[in-house]
Amino acid sequence: MPPVKRVLIIDDETSIRESLDMYLSEKGLAVEAAGTGTEGLAAYHKYHPQVIILDIRLPDISGLDILKRIMETDHDAKVIMITAYHDMETTIEAMRQGAYDYIHKPIDVDELDHAVTKSLHIADKVHAIPHLQDDQESGVRHQIVGKTPAMRALFKTIGLVSRNRATILVEGETGTGKELIARVIHESSLVSDQPYVTVDCTTLVDNLFESELFGYERGAFTGAVETKKGRLELAGEGTILFDEVGDLPLPLQAKLLRFLEYSEFTRVGGTKAILSQARIIAATNRDLCDLATQGRFRQDLLFRLRVITISVPPLRSRLDDLPELVRFFLHKINRDLGAKVTQVEDKAYAVLRNHSWPGNVRELKNVLIKSVVESRGSVLLADALKTVLAASPRDLPPITGLASLDDLEKTHILKAMVETKGNLSAAARLLRISRPTLRKRLKLYGLHQPDPRNP
Ligand SMILES: Nc1ncnc2c1ncn2[C@@H]1O[C@H](COP(=O)(O)OP(=O)(O)OP(=O)(O)O)[C@@H](O)[C@H]1O
Ligand SMILES: [Mg+2]
Repeated sequence: MPPVKRVLIIDDETSIRESLDMYLSEKGLAVEAAGTGTEGLAAYHKYHPQVIILDIRLPDISGLDILKRIMETDHDAKVIMITAYHDMETTIEAMRQGAYDYIHKPIDVDELDHAVTKSLHIADKVHAIPHLQDDQESGVRHQIVGKTPAMRALFKTIGLVSRNRATILVEGETGTGKELIARVIHESSLVSDQPYVTVDCTTLVDNLFESELFGYERGAFTGAVETKKGRLELAGEGTILFDEVGDLPLPLQAKLLRFLEYSEFTRVGGTKAILSQARIIAATNRDLCDLATQGRFRQDLLFRLRVITISVPPLRSRLDDLPELVRFFLHKINRDLGAKVTQVEDKAYAVLRNHSWPGNVRELKNVLIKSVVESRGSVLLADALKTVLAASPRDLPPITGLASLDDLEKTHILKAMVETKGNLSAAARLLRISRPTLRKRLKLYGLHQPDPRNP
């Protein structure tokens, strides 16, 4: 037989104490009752109840203060507050402080029954998340969470590259942590005391490229009222990240390539060549090889960038990292939002594992933030996660890098041509279309006509 569950009632109204005591005892629970806050706290420390039914208004100590003291202790008791209808603010405050649930006065037996049953059930089915090490919590350094083999391999690569200054390409789907990885590479490198500078390639347009990257001299153009250093100069001997490098327009790719070849630049309107010592990292959520096949990314630039490639695996391929990521983010959310979610319902992990995470770790973080708000009290509930996930497609980041149908067809045809070494008949057979159709398509997409001597 399972051990008897203990319930503590703290209420100054004798009639409430007596009726609750009778009702809950009949359900097979061990009930203790206290009429004041002081007595209540003493009983709490003595009996270690699983559930506490706590009146918000008590003669000596306020219910909120008692709640606060209970939440500060290690024992995982679930607190159900008894509140009056007009007490919205106190109710909110109680939930914010970690109360598990609340019931209104006058007490409705069904409501009470439901709250108690649920909290006892939850008390059985949740696990406290262990505390992070102090150094992790207080450390100023960024942390990449993960324990799966793919992530361990990634840590190893970061360790290796932090010893040299080779150019790195970080690729991976949106939200997988590419920017975070770039930062950690910088922080673990020999130049961690030097600047870390980011260039968002999506915002670079024509003329801005040079002035942003290389800076400009006073009077170089209208509006250049004083000399300004560009990002490269600001990075000094540190690290510069070219973020979303796949979005860089072709003409600017040529300019970036020219810089990479010589590591030298001149400020706009200047004459002096400045040698850049910065370590270059490029990040992208697009498949640059694909873009290169389509002629939308320069092959030579790609070669320059991927001296070392770090491919960040999507979250759905490393679901075993979920518990640690959840633990990490809950600590962060608790700290940043003043929440007190310290436990996770077992079922919650199954819900998380069943989702495909198109937005990867960023999506997980956002889902957790919303679910913490949704899961009143100190437990991250599976139901809260379900509610948030059901609503989440609307909040997903827009799918970038999704090729158009024409692009897909073009690449597909190109692949067939490569596969058949330009043999039109063989390619047409492979694609299951006629030769004339293939010819038309090739022309439409401006692809090279195969050599007529080798049709
Ligand atoms: N392994 C991880 N451990 C801890 N936090 C992570 C991890 N991966 C990602 N994050 C966090 O998730 C969020 C998204 O990560 P980041 O911005 O680095 O993604 P990204 O790959 O650059 O995405 P995008 O392609 O959309 O720019 C950040 O808050 C980041 O700190
Ligand atoms: Mg990014």
